Amino acid sequence: MALIKKFRITSYKGDETIVELKNISVFFNKRQILENLNLKINKQEILGMLGPNGVGKSTIFNLITGLKDPNYGEIIINGVNCTKLPINERFTKFKIGLVPQYGGLIYDLTLIENLNLVSEIHIKEKELRKQKIDKIISQFEFEPLTKIKAKNLSGGQKKKLVIAMALINDPKILLLDEPFAALDILTIKMLQEIILNLQSTEEISVVVCDHQARDLLNCVDRAIILSNGKIIASGSPNEVISDKTAKNQYFGDEFNIN
Ligand SMILES: Nc1ncnc2c1ncn2[C@@H]1O[C@H](COP(=O)(O)OP(=O)(O)O)[C@@H](O)[C@H]1O
Ligand SMILES: [Mg+2]
Repeated sequence: MALIKKFRITSYKGDETIVELKNISVFFNKRQILENLNLKINKQEILGMLGPNGVGKSTIFNLITGLKDPNYGEIIINGVNCTKLPINERFTKFKIGLVPQYGGLIYDLTLIENLNLVSEIHIKEKELRKQKIDKIISQFEFEPLTKIKAKNLSGGQKKKLVIAMALINDPKILLLDEPFAALDILTIKMLQEIILNLQSTEEISVVVCDHQARDLLNCVDRAIILSNGKIIASGSPNEVISDKTAKNQYFGDEFNIN
């Protein structure tokens, strides 16, 4: 953890809520996935959501974006109850960026064509569009890659591109669904740095989920642990690691962060 800690701002504005899930229950067919879940995401924090495969992490992202309606409960964004608000209105009104676990880019287009495509949707004025793309290319060090088709980029480069595409709309809330999956250690470190830098330079709230703890706990301010439809622990990385229930139901006895 010490390696990347220097990139972290130590005091985020932790008490102003940007997204609140209130008493949420979700069923698929008759199977209950989430049970009376309450979760607050604060402004400018990096929140980690941990839990085994199939526990409901992507479902929580889908609830926030509007891809899935809850069976019970409310979704409040910026103080507005938007449980019934359609996806497109939520994305534009509240500026949500989503980086899905798989895909998210057009494989037969080059890196720059993917960026242009998204920017043409969000930014009307040509000059502003160009400024935004230039900034992103330099921020993500994409200069040598612009003409490469997305399908020929490495796993880490693809992930960086999808994150960059999600940033074009200047999101206030960025949701990253298992961004570290299937990547090597150096690429994971690079993505962790990108996430930590976003918090200080772009002033956005970032929610990262993963089924593996170590990579995620290295770059979040706060984490929640999900098990059997419920949040069983919540707190700083050190707090959740030492939580008894989280140890029993998720981490096991052997887990440590180093
Ligand atoms: N469209 C769907 N129809 C039926 N079951 C689903 C659907 N989407 C997700 N599920 C189930 O809901 C549970 C939670 O899924 P998900 O949120 O994708 O888990 P996670 O992202 O934590 O791995 C899983 O058991 C999954 O099988
Ligand atoms: Mg998932």
